Amino acid sequence: TNSSSIEINGKEYKTDKWFNTPPNILSNVPRRLHLQKDHPVYITRQIIESVFPSPTYKYHNTFDPVVSTLQNFDSLGFPSDHPGRAKSDTYYINESTLLRTHTSAHQADVFRANLSPGYLISADVYRRDEVDRSHYPVFHQMEGARSWDRGSAASASGDISQLIWSDVEKLPKHSMKVEDPNPPYHPERNPLQSGHHSPDEAEAIGAHLKRSLELMVVEIFSRAAQAAKKADPNFVDEPLRVRWVEAYFPFTSPSWELEVYYAGDWLEVLGCGVVKQDLYINAGVPSQLGWAFGIGLERIAMLLFQIPDIRLFWSQDNRFLNQFTGVSDNLESLRRFVPFSKYPGCPKDVSFWLKSTSSAGGNVKANAHDFHENDVMEIVRSICGDTVEDVKRIDDFTHPKTGRRSLCYRINYRSLERTLTNQETNEMHDKVTQALVEKLGVELR
Ligand code: PHE
Repeated sequence: TNSSSIEINGKEYKTDKWFNTPPNILSNVPRRLHLQKDHPVYITRQIIESVFPSPTYKYHNTFDPVVSTLQNFDSLGFPSDHPGRAKSDTYYINESTLLRTHTSAHQADVFRANLSPGYLISADVYRRDEVDRSHYPVFHQMEGARSWDRGSAASASGDISQLIWSDVEKLPKHSMKVEDPNPPYHPERNPLQSGHHSPDEAEAIGAHLKRSLELMVVEIFSRAAQAAKKADPNFVDEPLRVRWVEAYFPFTSPSWELEVYYAGDWLEVLGCGVVKQDLYINAGVPSQLGWAFGIGLERIAMLLFQIPDIRLFWSQDNRFLNQFTGVSDNLESLRRFVPFSKYPGCPKDVSFWLKSTSSAGGNVKANAHDFHENDVMEIVRSICGDTVEDVKRIDDFTHPKTGRRSLCYRINYRSLERTLTNQETNEMHDKVTQALVEKLGVELR
């Protein structure tokens, strides 16, 4: 059999039966919105970088998005059956090569290079996901970390918590109200790495981590309030409410998420924790210890600029881009996004039966067991590009006698840039319907 290959960023990769990355995803690889001056993702990166100053923090912004399963999963301690590894969630090039699903894919390499006490990595990341106004299969993350070295800062006891606490003291104070009801670590829910860290060390690292990230939130939301006041001089910024909640990541312990109260809801803005010591050990720097965090840049940019739909970040329309001109060179000029008029939407439904599960052997393309909703999402995206606002499952029915399952999805066609004609909407919907039959083997109702 012939082996095929594809080129990404000028490099050639062999594909195999794991290859599931469609052309519309690959075409976004060169965009690198975090490097496009005056783009809201770029501006958001700049603001966060300003809180983690060079040279303590070194910025890495051009790492290649094609990584190995070793980098993306194994080096971080993801178990071999972790759902994130599934083809339904991740874009693979071949069995051992994929488009990174998070910036943590570079943690081990940057620890190994050991160039600076801290770092920030900004990059495009890729995930198969639902279609709605806050999800897009390509988005941007920033990873940050700060390490201390036992070797260069040896103390008689080997405990360097005093050194870390002194760095906590050097951080600026802030007056934001923070809810942090949980202990610094918890034996079951959020354990200390007791074989590696003293309780004082874990507490000091956690304090430095939390204070640093709180300062970042203060900076972002004071910029957001400034922008709001430009739009409306009578705007009064409500006191910012943030809280720390316990979390789990395979590569940190203890771990937390930071949530911000926004428009009546607690919104998760980042994940973080004390780096698992195995990462440092495997990276050849066993005497280091420290923290790491990861944050989604679009989500922050949506809050900062009041951008209502994540598709807008990919727009080449000057009615979008021109609103941010000059901001990179003068952050004081940051203003809210002024939406251009919303074009009419056109919802259309498609209903189908999943292939019966009882078919014995044969050519089953997709039965109820290997049906993944993300496959529906991807078919819609690859045919309609950015002209779909969201896709929602509106019915899920299992026939009481035959046991067959039927699903109905509502696809809301709406361009951000123009009014779609009836004819083109109908044509797209027909193509989607056909592709569902051909690719998933469903039977239309
Ligand atoms: N990589 C994690 C995610 O994408 C976030 C994270 C980064 C958590 C670093 C802890 C430390 O969800």
